[in-house]
Amino acid sequence: MASILETFEAMHQGSKALAERGRAAFPSGVTHDTRAFSPWPIYVERAQGGRKWDVDGNEYVDYIGGHGALLLGHGRPEVTEAAREALGHGTHFGSSHRWEVEWAEQVIRMVPCAERVRFTSSGTEATMMALRLARAYTGRERVVKLVEHFHGWHDLVVGRLRQDEAQPFSPGVPNGFYESLAVLEAGDVGALEEQLARRDVAAVILEPTGAHWGTHPLSPDYLHAARRLTEETGTVFIMDEVITGFRMAPGGASERYGVVPDLSTHAKILAGGLPGGCVTGRDDIVSMLEIRDGDGEWNASQRVAHQGTFNANPVSAAAGLEALRLIARGGEVERADASTARLVRGLNAVCASLSLPGSAWAVSSMFHVNLGYDAPRPRDVEWDAAEEPRGVLPELERPLKRALLNHGVDFMGTGGMVSSAHTDADIDQTVEAFRSTALDLRAEGLLR
Ligand SMILES: Cc1ncc(COP(=O)(O)O)c(C=O)c1O
Repeated sequence: MASILETFEAMHQGSKALAERGRAAFPSGVTHDTRAFSPWPIYVERAQGGRKWDVDGNEYVDYIGGHGALLLGHGRPEVTEAAREALGHGTHFGSSHRWEVEWAEQVIRMVPCAERVRFTSSGTEATMMALRLARAYTGRERVVKLVEHFHGWHDLVVGRLRQDEAQPFSPGVPNGFYESLAVLEAGDVGALEEQLARRDVAAVILEPTGAHWGTHPLSPDYLHAARRLTEETGTVFIMDEVITGFRMAPGGASERYGVVPDLSTHAKILAGGLPGGCVTGRDDIVSMLEIRDGDGEWNASQRVAHQGTFNANPVSAAAGLEALRLIARGGEVERADASTARLVRGLNAVCASLSLPGSAWAVSSMFHVNLGYDAPRPRDVEWDAAEEPRGVLPELERPLKRALLNHGVDFMGTGGMVSSAHTDADIDQTVEAFRSTALDLRAEGLLR
């Protein structure tokens, strides 16, 4: 019988040919660190709904969902049509336009903290701007982030990206950036209190469901504590909703957990599957960007500067506006959450029936898997065990992904994002693929 790796190689000869050319053009052959894969990544040709197809004609149930940008699934007709219509008007006017105004108004209607908005081209740019605003507003420099919480790849938010890594996570960052950054253990309210007591912290920034969209779950109690402590100390509280925004509820984690930050950052779903981001929140903070006529002193020394060629480009604005309208109408979040619950229950049933060392859990439509150790199983869908989940043992990650791809499923890392377009058939097929995958891993002696 062919091994997992042999099967993968036989199924992906077209991808192999492209990967060879990709490797000559790009470091590791990829344009995003998480797409690097061994023996090579799959090359995808098209996608629709909850599925995608690679250059070799293999079909997958897709749980990467555009790195989380596609709550509505691939190619949602209303969003595609809105983008197509906007394209017909031009891709860039170098001027203000009606789509950006309607898009911002829609964000303000949906996001609990949103009083004003500034669009950027990505989530990375959104968190950069949020931190610049917080520093300018408070006149303080230090920033607090939490271990492993990810806020994009810019220099301001470096810090351990995995529990077992020493700082920094990337060479090439000047030391000054580390000096102004405190990286705290997530969930430790006492440590946060101690940091903020000095009243010299400009901002606390965090992922509201915990590091890497909930791989390390964070209790909503911590969010409430962070809200209270930042308020008491004049610190700007930034919830990075680049993943959770418009996914966990029309108003994101903020709506779902009833915590209203000073600023929140958004991207991904915000722009309907096209590039785009924004920072939004309190008027007095976002208005640090305001150009004041006749106030040269403000403009020269207090105002926050911001440019960006593709900020609120009309095509992203039109697609994003349509996506947000569909989500605001209701039903999309609920459908994605229900499919995720079906998936998690199915995966846990497989773990139980095969006595696998592993389990699955989810928050909203973001699911995760433990594999290779005796992980507790949640009573239902959300993680409710006292101990932290450890995820998939590192030595299992690659064979797991290869075997899942062999069986027609593409996870994002060791979990994934479910969309409102995933059908019960997609979910049930995934559960069966997971069963076959587990048996393949067991046959190779990788799993007991
Ligand atoms: C929570 C969070 N913040 C910020 C970012 C950066 O967004 P982008 O990739 O659009 O720059 C990401 C990207 O995955 C993210 O997950």
